[in-house]
Amino acid sequence: MLLIHLKVNAQIIISIEPDPGQTTISRHIYGHFAEHLGRCIYDGFYVGENNKTIPNTKGVRNDIIAALKKLQIPNLRWPGGCFADTYHWKDGIGPKEKRAKIVNVWWGGVTEDNSFGTHEFLNMCELLGTEPYISGNVGSGTVQELADWVQYVNFNGTSPMSDLRVKNGRREPWSVKYWGIGNEAWGCGGNMRPEYYSDIYRKYATFVTNTSNSKDFLRIASGANSSDYNWTEVLMKYIPKNMLGGVALHHYSVISWEKKGPSVEFDEETYFRTMKEAWKMDSLVIKHSAIMDKYDPQKNIALVVDEWGGWYDVEKGTNPGFLFQQNTMRDAMIAGITLNILNNHSDRVRMANLAQTVNVLQAVILTEKEKMILTPTYHVMEMYKVHQDAKRMKVNFKSPDYTFGSEKLPAVSVSASTDSTGKMHISITNIDAKIEQAMTINVNGSRYSKVAGRILKSPRLQDHNSFNDPEKVQPVAFTGVRLNGDNMTLKIPPFSVVVLELEK
Ligand code: AHR
Repeated sequence: MLLIHLKVNAQIIISIEPDPGQTTISRHIYGHFAEHLGRCIYDGFYVGENNKTIPNTKGVRNDIIAALKKLQIPNLRWPGGCFADTYHWKDGIGPKEKRAKIVNVWWGGVTEDNSFGTHEFLNMCELLGTEPYISGNVGSGTVQELADWVQYVNFNGTSPMSDLRVKNGRREPWSVKYWGIGNEAWGCGGNMRPEYYSDIYRKYATFVTNTSNSKDFLRIASGANSSDYNWTEVLMKYIPKNMLGGVALHHYSVISWEKKGPSVEFDEETYFRTMKEAWKMDSLVIKHSAIMDKYDPQKNIALVVDEWGGWYDVEKGTNPGFLFQQNTMRDAMIAGITLNILNNHSDRVRMANLAQTVNVLQAVILTEKEKMILTPTYHVMEMYKVHQDAKRMKVNFKSPDYTFGSEKLPAVSVSASTDSTGKMHISITNIDAKIEQAMTINVNGSRYSKVAGRILKSPRLQDHNSFNDPEKVQPVAFTGVRLNGDNMTLKIPPFSVVVLELEK
């Protein structure tokens, strides 16, 4: 257990001004990820059309639909992850009783009955009001299979695949814009070298084309594992720009792949190491973007951080292949700083996906039979949703250090934006485990008359919501901010997240 000795840091001066680049923070930075892994789809999102005990719409839990609608999730990546490169989409269409039963080789070796397939996923996206992002099978599939999938879901005329879709009960195409060409091609997606994958990508991109004629049809290349900069360099060099909508990047805040540590009973040293991994996202984005800038100075190609989040040991007594973990204030800190980093680099980062939505890794929702809880990460994403599609503001300040032993990290992270109604939102995360941060924020001549805010805080870093105590960690009104002309003064408690709203 951490003992909290509250100290206050000297005044931090933060200056906020319009961004000369006029960058919009794409709402797609706030995307999510649902893999056929553990209890994410089955016993998570999807309880089956015939379930009489858990209220559902077409088999999808109503409580999850409502929670995710409130979060305004802009896109949902599916069906994997590693699962995607074993998934043959034709197994998951047509009458359920005739669908193939396969083994989920990556995640627990369980039987996958394919009762949740293309129609179930795309109809669920419609219920959620979110854009689907489909990861195609490159590792064990064929070019024809992926081209057929695009035709099946997107083509609005007569063709073998669109006719099959109509036969299976869906007349209108879904017009899916976002297509991943494989996943982790350097690992579970085929153990390829970047040179080989670049050629494979070129072949896929030749045939996986825009059959719906929608103007946004984005093919996203399987990207680097964390700091594998050579991967990005080779892809940018060898894949023609007109074939490439985005390049992915995966980075997990894991302290060691061999010894990840528990999700709740961690000490401050482990917390600090997790924060170090979370902060790494900043240099990763800067360095991958610099490589992309060499080949694409106009920034037409997006950096797509389509897997990020904390990764710990699974909860005791759960299937090790199901990656079920609790979610504490530590996860709220990962979310707070990661989303600020992505907002601040939104000229290049235009899409991202937290891993994963329900019951897996840094989930926003956990379920147990008919019960559902929202995690601290959910609350951070809900507080930050105000940045979606808003104009990014330029934030200048020097963060004080969060020191542990001989190491230090920036304690405070900030991002800001102005929405279409003229309101400014400022999100601030203080990761220091013990020190309160006093700050003055100057908005440089923008005249605001009102400020309000919300805060997510809790007495212990290990605090979390549970099925017995579902509302232990919840955002509340933040009343500690004073506005005086251009300046606001406030104090932010240790390990807390604050979002301010300024109105004219
Ligand atoms: O999110 C869990 C797994 O992590 C994904 O399947 C894979 O892409 C990554 O290694």
